[in-house]
Amino acid sequence: MDGTVGLGGHARLIAERLAPGGRLLGIDRDDAALEVARERLAGIEPPPLLRRGDFRDLAEMARAAGFDHVDGVLLDLGVSSPQLDDPGRGFSFRQDGPLDMRMDRRAPLTAERVVNTLPERELADLVRRLGEERWAARIAQFVVRRRPLASTRELAAAVEAAVPRAAWPRDIHPATRTFQAIRMHVNDELGSLERGLRGAVEILSTGGRLVVIAFHSLEDAAVKRFLAEESRDCVCPPGQPVCTCGHRATLRVLTRRPLRPSPEEVDRNPRSRSARLRAAERV
Ligand SMILES: C[S@@+](CC[C@H](N)C(=O)[O-])C[C@H]1O[C@@H](n2cnc3c(N)ncnc32)[C@H](O)[C@@H]1O
Repeated sequence: MDGTVGLGGHARLIAERLAPGGRLLGIDRDDAALEVARERLAGIEPPPLLRRGDFRDLAEMARAAGFDHVDGVLLDLGVSSPQLDDPGRGFSFRQDGPLDMRMDRRAPLTAERVVNTLPERELADLVRRLGEERWAARIAQFVVRRRPLASTRELAAAVEAAVPRAAWPRDIHPATRTFQAIRMHVNDELGSLERGLRGAVEILSTGGRLVVIAFHSLEDAAVKRFLAEESRDCVCPPGQPVCTCGHRATLRVLTRRPLRPSPEEVDRNPRSRSARLRAAERV
């Protein structure tokens, strides 16, 4: 099961290696991505099943598609390159576009609503928390002063004005963290991840594998914490003399440290540079 089928790159490689009788189920929140994936996966037998949805519901979606259990779950988190590169989707500060940032274009919450309606304090908190941005308070102040903002360039310009030139990061655009924070909020990415990981444990067969690729430190930290917790028999607070939680390990971690892309891969695909892959086996 590929919970983030995107353009079908991983899905194709997985589908080509399935054991006889195996079948791939691919999910994505984005209609446009699914259309591309459908073409990319054409001709594979048996044809992969593709469904639009959020991987937070992956166990339910698997059952609805006729799978009681699956032997593998892949989550390749975040946005895809075509989503980032299409100015009309509003993910990029490099090109001007509407403040959208929804992966699922039927979802009600847009970046425009977040940027223009959130109280300054909440906006600052969200940029600080999800963007790990130390200039969050000033950014929120500048954004609120410039409301209503309508485009990605206007948001990027507000951030550029808020962060003192001397404090601009050397390797990334000053608006990178703000855009990332708003995108994660609009799509409730940490909420989906938390529920998706639980769903994966629920639907994986014994010996089945969960593989997660994260590009963001908060996401990777959430995956690491989940795998650590699920690979322990007891999750009572340390120092408690008798176990009262009754928790039993559901996973065995296969990657003590996350796998990182090689320098050659980063050369070939610079967007892979922050990727961290973690894997676990259902016990
Ligand atoms: C990094 S891309 C995946 C690329 C894919 N592995 C490939 O080989 O082309 C992430 C994809 O996951 C989708 N996505 C992100 N969060 C999702 C979620 N919670 N539920 C379903 N799809 C999601 C995005 O729409 C995007 O298409």
